[in-house]
Amino acid sequence: MTLLNEPDYGTPRCASDQQITLQVDGAAVTVPAGTSVMRAAAEAGMAVPKLCATDSLQPFGSCRLCLVEIDGKKGTPASCTTPVEPGMVVHTQTPRLERLRRNVMELYISDHPLDCLTCPANGDCELQDMAGVVGLREVRYGGVDGERAGENHLDAPTDDSNPYFSFDESKCIVCSRCVRACDEIQGTLALTIVGRGFDSKVSPGGTNFFDSECVSCGACVQACPTATLSEKSVIDLGTPTRTVLTTCAYCGVGCSFKAELRGDELVRMVPYSGGGANEGHSCVKGRFAWGYATHPDRITTPMIRDTIEEPWREASWEEAIGYAARRLAEIQARHGVDSIGGITSSRCTNEEVFVVQKMVRTAFGNNNVDTCARVCHSPTGYGLKQTFGTSAGTQDFKSVAAADVIMVIGANPTDAHPVFASRMKRRLREGARLIVVDPRRIDLVRSPHIVADHHLQLLPGTNVAVVNAMAHTIVDEGMADTEFIATRCDANLYREWEQFIRRPENSPEAVEEVSGVPADEIRAAARLFAAGPNSAIYYGLGVTEHSQGSTMVMAMANLAMVTGSIGRDGVGVNPLRGQNNVQGSCDMGSFPHEFSGYRHVSDTAVREQFEALWGTTLQAEPGMRIPNMFDSAISGDFRALYIQGEDVAQSDPNTHHVQKALESLELLIVQDLFLNETARYAHVFLPGTSFLEKDGTFTNAERRINRVRPVMAARTGKQEWEITCELAAALGYDMHYDSAAQIMDEIATLTPTFAGVSFALLDEVGSVQWPCNAEHPLGTPIMHVERFVRGDGAFQLTPYVPTDERSTRRFPLLLTTGRILSQYNVGAQTRRTANVAWHDEDLLEIHEADAETRGIADGTWVTLASRVGSTVMRAHISQRVPPGVVYTTFHFPVSGANVVTTEYSDWATNCPEYKVTAVEVSPSSRGPVDVGEAAPTEIDTLIRMGHEIARNNAALPHEEAVERVARHLRSFWAPAMIAELEAFAAIEPERLDPVLREALSELADRRNR
Ligand code: SF4
Ligand code: SF4
Ligand code: SF4
Ligand code: FES
Repeated sequence: MTLLNEPDYGTPRCASDQQITLQVDGAAVTVPAGTSVMRAAAEAGMAVPKLCATDSLQPFGSCRLCLVEIDGKKGTPASCTTPVEPGMVVHTQTPRLERLRRNVMELYISDHPLDCLTCPANGDCELQDMAGVVGLREVRYGGVDGERAGENHLDAPTDDSNPYFSFDESKCIVCSRCVRACDEIQGTLALTIVGRGFDSKVSPGGTNFFDSECVSCGACVQACPTATLSEKSVIDLGTPTRTVLTTCAYCGVGCSFKAELRGDELVRMVPYSGGGANEGHSCVKGRFAWGYATHPDRITTPMIRDTIEEPWREASWEEAIGYAARRLAEIQARHGVDSIGGITSSRCTNEEVFVVQKMVRTAFGNNNVDTCARVCHSPTGYGLKQTFGTSAGTQDFKSVAAADVIMVIGANPTDAHPVFASRMKRRLREGARLIVVDPRRIDLVRSPHIVADHHLQLLPGTNVAVVNAMAHTIVDEGMADTEFIATRCDANLYREWEQFIRRPENSPEAVEEVSGVPADEIRAAARLFAAGPNSAIYYGLGVTEHSQGSTMVMAMANLAMVTGSIGRDGVGVNPLRGQNNVQGSCDMGSFPHEFSGYRHVSDTAVREQFEALWGTTLQAEPGMRIPNMFDSAISGDFRALYIQGEDVAQSDPNTHHVQKALESLELLIVQDLFLNETARYAHVFLPGTSFLEKDGTFTNAERRINRVRPVMAARTGKQEWEITCELAAALGYDMHYDSAAQIMDEIATLTPTFAGVSFALLDEVGSVQWPCNAEHPLGTPIMHVERFVRGDGAFQLTPYVPTDERSTRRFPLLLTTGRILSQYNVGAQTRRTANVAWHDEDLLEIHEADAETRGIADGTWVTLASRVGSTVMRAHISQRVPPGVVYTTFHFPVSGANVVTTEYSDWATNCPEYKVTAVEVSPSSRGPVDVGEAAPTEIDTLIRMGHEIARNNAALPHEEAVERVARHLRSFWAPAMIAELEAFAAIEPERLDPVLREALSELADRRNR
């Protein structure tokens, strides 16, 4: 499309049931009460000239350009700050107004460099436009010399410190739009107007932009009506001429962007105000950090090699795909159909993910497909399905605007989900109350105009205990929403749960002992949450990446149900997804036990539907999860792996173990943009496409399906789904689509929650939130409104089971991990952008008391060691972490934080326990010492996993616990894993927990029946 210029109505839309009718230039206009005269006129097609007003900001009334005349009112009021009144008669164009406006513009222009023809904003400048609109022909004042020359700002300096935009103060008209954008939209409050009158000017806190509090969201650049704040890419390349609407490929917020091009060259990414998730806002990553897509490190030609010791050899697509298919087939012929598998990527589109899982189930002939969501939000899928009946968050992002109490657990939205954080902060500045549950003092605990009412600074690994204690308090003090429970929840399950939650071990006093959070604080937070009236939970990987990740998701769902905080605006249980398409990759059936739409592979009716459409027989038992694939590779049973867009060697825990697994494979196929850490172990490299080349959809954390449109041609010559189809075909399964739209049509046919989704619908309405079907043709912003998807809400018993990962004398500190704003995940993309200016290494945050006892100074190198490995990074002494806890990020392969994280994982889903690792830190002058223990064998891992499952069901009566454990193994474990544990039980039964043992024999009985 040509350049998309969104209309600017000058002031924000007002939401009011009351409608007001007025006359503007003789035409009747009806608008909601509270609307400005400026907006009413603009909506009627009579735009009033303006400079300081824009419809993303509250009116300010400083430029005096938008003057109007109103019958019966004195003077010429500013239309941006004047609200409409019934019967008002407004005149926007009169000779008097025209004269006044010309005078105003003349004054502005008199102190403005008249370099329009060489200005980067030429043609995209509101000042220039307004000069034309008011008919300015002559400037009587100002100038640099001559008799009318006076004081001016034409020599003001330019601040080029920010890598992405510049601030040319000589062009500033001091309209404050930038300051207000930073305050109102972004919530960082980095800018102020300093000085008075003629001396007033914009200042980023008295320093330059780079050294200020600015987080480079770009809101001020977008708001600036002149070229004062300009993207450097526009200065370099010129103003864009056409737009492609697409979606950011970084985090799970899923911001919509206008990719603006000049010819075929991408000039800038501008957040789209029509985007449902972001409504015109962005963060530094989506707005500016897209240069990796054309980085010289990109591999665009397929490569192959027989062994990983050999150098890569470039190959044609045909040769590379043929080579991969031949070796896969040989391996299956030698080692069986289950000896190979695939991993899908949450960075890829729904369509790309769908075809990979289809290829594994059809061409590979097994269910050995898993997704990188395994290592982040798989507990969300499990926990919300058990309690509510569907594996997704309950709200849309807008809902936070109606929340009265916001509880943020194990999430750091300002760094990891910045655009949603801005929405949340807006609500908090309006007065919503805040509870933060986190071992670390994240920014939200105290930021401009925001102070958390409670920061429950718990010890890592004790989430479940703390949330149970909150629920205990609510039940104990009679604050449960009995009506909601009676009408919406399963009565028997509630009774069972109530007895459980009242137990003394769930009291705040008992939990204080294990979590370190004072009982009074837990009680006070519980009372606040129960009082609401609208209380909402937002959580992140600090919830899921624990040995009790799934239990914690269920505990939060219990808390929401017991307080009636589900099914309307302002409440809910909301996972903040890490990567752009975590929700979608899970929805698309890339778990080994589920088809798309979360239907179990053992469900005959569902399987038959897939078999009929796909024309093949499908396995009815779950395949292997990622950790099981790795264990099995080391033990020699699993021989070949296809990895779509995921750097497991860097992102997955216990790097040494992952490397050993990858080394053990006969064939590793990596499909990615760059030769990443994983590719070091690969035999086939299939170059992938960046989000700027993809055609498809991403599904964000609020279940919103957004279109991703190609901004440029695929540099590899192929869409990624085409590569997968060709590999499937080379393996003998005919898989062909003409377009990504056709893949979505198949997804819709096979997936009830996507039944109404098509590219045509998305192109028409922008985006929809699933379920989107006949019942909800335009999607479902809020779920579980009348009833839960599963019928009645199911309270689940959530006993706190301490992780086996404990601090010891040898490893006395607990390491927890997270992200920072400027970098993303393993850093493959952001490390190849100017974002490294803010963060070019992973640092270890350590409390000063712990640093002092170890002789560690700020900025010095330290060795971070756990029982599985060690690495070296620099220390950052910080008050954000309490004594006993250290924190780092995992964006840089050189520090390899995952070298130290262990194999422990969530009992239900195997999501790794990244958030708790017992470590020791020492000055690195002692040298990095690899203290790694021998990696556990596959059977050790299976025993530990089995015991975890038994322990997490231990609160149930014995028989029910046995039944639950058996059901869990049947539903989620590959038959080979169960068989291995059964074989062990036959030899050494005494080493197994009795519940686990009985569950295994029940499974054997069932098979023999
Ligand atoms: S920098 Fe731009 S938005 Fe900010 S005051 Fe100056 S002209 Fe207005
Ligand atoms: S880029 Fe964002 S954070 Fe920085 S000054 Fe502008 S609005 Fe504020
Ligand atoms: S918040 Fe997330 S989706 Fe939005 S621009 Fe930033 S990284 Fe992209
Ligand atoms: S636009 Fe109304 S005073 Fe500036």
